[in-house]
Amino acid sequence: MSERSVTDIVDELTLEETVALTHGASDPSDRATGYVRGIERLDVPPLRMVDGPLGVRVPGEEATAFPAPLALAATFDTDLAETHGAALGRETNGMDADALLGPGTNLIRVPQNGRNFEYFSEDPVHSAAFAAAVTRGIESEDVIATPKHYVANSQERYRASISADVSESALRELYLPSFRAAVDAGAGSVMTAYNGVNGTRMSDHARLLRDVLKGEWGFEGYVVSDWFGTEGAAAAANGGLDVEMPGVPMGEMLPGDADAEDGPVEMPEELARGMPDAASCERFAEVLAERVRDGTVPEARLDDMAERVLTQMDRIGRLDGSRTDGAVDTPEHRRLARRVAERASVLLKNDGALPLADDAAVALVGPNIDEAVLGGGGSSETTPVVESTPEAALTSRADGPVTVEYGLPPVEAVSMFDLLEGADGGEGDDGSTRDPEMADALAAAAEADVAVVCVRDTATEAMDRENLRLPGRQDDLVEAVADAADRTVVVVNSSGPVELPWRNDVDAVVENWYPGQAHGDALAAVLYGDADPSGRLPVTFAPESAYPTSGDERRYPGEDGVVHYDEGVFVGYRHLDREGVEPTYPFGHGGSYADYEYVDADLADGTVHVTVENTSERDGREVVQVYVEPPEDGDVERPPRELAGFASVEVPAGERVEVSVDLAEHAFDSYVEGSGWTTPPGEYALAVGRSSRDIRLELAATR
Ligand code: BGC
Repeated sequence: MSERSVTDIVDELTLEETVALTHGASDPSDRATGYVRGIERLDVPPLRMVDGPLGVRVPGEEATAFPAPLALAATFDTDLAETHGAALGRETNGMDADALLGPGTNLIRVPQNGRNFEYFSEDPVHSAAFAAAVTRGIESEDVIATPKHYVANSQERYRASISADVSESALRELYLPSFRAAVDAGAGSVMTAYNGVNGTRMSDHARLLRDVLKGEWGFEGYVVSDWFGTEGAAAAANGGLDVEMPGVPMGEMLPGDADAEDGPVEMPEELARGMPDAASCERFAEVLAERVRDGTVPEARLDDMAERVLTQMDRIGRLDGSRTDGAVDTPEHRRLARRVAERASVLLKNDGALPLADDAAVALVGPNIDEAVLGGGGSSETTPVVESTPEAALTSRADGPVTVEYGLPPVEAVSMFDLLEGADGGEGDDGSTRDPEMADALAAAAEADVAVVCVRDTATEAMDRENLRLPGRQDDLVEAVADAADRTVVVVNSSGPVELPWRNDVDAVVENWYPGQAHGDALAAVLYGDADPSGRLPVTFAPESAYPTSGDERRYPGEDGVVHYDEGVFVGYRHLDREGVEPTYPFGHGGSYADYEYVDADLADGTVHVTVENTSERDGREVVQVYVEPPEDGDVERPPRELAGFASVEVPAGERVEVSVDLAEHAFDSYVEGSGWTTPPGEYALAVGRSSRDIRLELAATR
């Protein structure tokens, strides 16, 4: 900072002014989701926080609706993720906000979790790489990144009342690494989760906030609570929380209810069990000064809280006005939104039906093909200026005839906000007057060279999905089209894993996630082969019963206020590998329109060098994955295979490229309670391949 130091400012603050820097207030412009009043007397401007992580959310305003983080992670391309993060940062700044409430860095543990689309991965190395890249990007634009929700926030059901009972080794190996990576990448803030961990509310968790985050990791930014996620003010402040949000009564935060006082807000039961109890949140504005006066909270702690906030404002140039300019909805951001959506598409299966011939006669079928799937419901909802639908984009890209049939009434998206407004469990009328006949869709499919069927799930913050099936009669629609058509391609828009019971009856399946505003254009490019679908699965696709959290209420959704992470480090593919269960599509899986051969690999100084050849006549993009396999006779039971590193690389037709894959810091380690990170000696293998179940080369590595 130029003339004044942050310490000088803190020295000049009165007690009340210091407290004012540690909690939210109403934003006079009504734009920020989180607003810390500045100190006019000392020329300290306010601090504004806005939601991400799919794009910037300012109610009533438009911004680029980027693909969901899970889609971004499916690119397995961290350079692209950094560019994506920078665009998010630029838009945050362009909206006059200082901090973005993202990235979402919770590890995906429960496949039904309503917010999986906001997170990156079921694998900690993969998730950490994306958390770091997106954070670096956001911070490069003079914007404070806020990785959330620290930590073990793996479900929406009971998210505000449940405590996760999780071992130290699972915390260290699975749930903490993404946060650590974001902190190391320069995150200026961390948001605490609603849930507790091992019996202590995360907003008060002295061990995880003070000892681990600030102590061990040296985090110098501010810790902000999730909205209404605190209880006792002194416990939170003393536990290491720096900023309490939103600092105003629940009524002031809810749509259309600005005058409501604190107190019970009527909401449907399934939503209520995922919402915090605003009435039990003790506001810093009301009590913190008193707690400092009576010595419950040391004054030095309060000063540290304010200093952390000011230091971050200073770092991004907010105190001396030296901050760079931002921009919203630029042509570059629009192109990026499309590029990420294309690159995120995962070719789950292709028996030759894709790419589509330019002149093919296409029957385009699906209940929602006339809209872009922008994201899931809740605080991440973003409203774009432009959006492209599959119907418009495919019709315009095709040279052959495209017949459009919806087949079923539209699947209605669910949103926490609609549920709050309507309080009717989401049974509202979507205003649609459409009454499509499945028979019309089948007739069109029978006439066409190829039927393209688009299906989707729905998901929202504050509720989990009930199961992994597609809503309504979409599975029936796919089955019937597959029967009627010569060739059937299915495109799935989902928030995470879904069951695909018809997959053996169709010719191709593309997982397209929540692709954002460029949905249609990106899909058309992938289907017609203008872009290679180079995405890979960041989550295992399997029947619901195959996941480690299924069939046991202790593990999910929890019993008596506690959810037991009994599976330890065996989450996602680690569990299926240990149990010898065949996934539907494994972690890391995804096809390409090109073909690759893995020629050779060697290990030097923690980097695996892999030579890959594109044996096809098309340019393509390959994702090279390296997994560590531990010695079988170790003392600690370890996953049979764990991702150690990956790289996404262009491989031109007929050419060979050498790909360098850096191995993660703890690739060979396990975390043993009491001793910390240890590398059990023995013969390890490095498995190099196209997915966690498609290994092409093996290297030995002795430790
Ligand atoms: C969500 C956070 C979000 C905050 C502010 C909470 O309900 O859990 O992810 O940033 O609201 O909108």
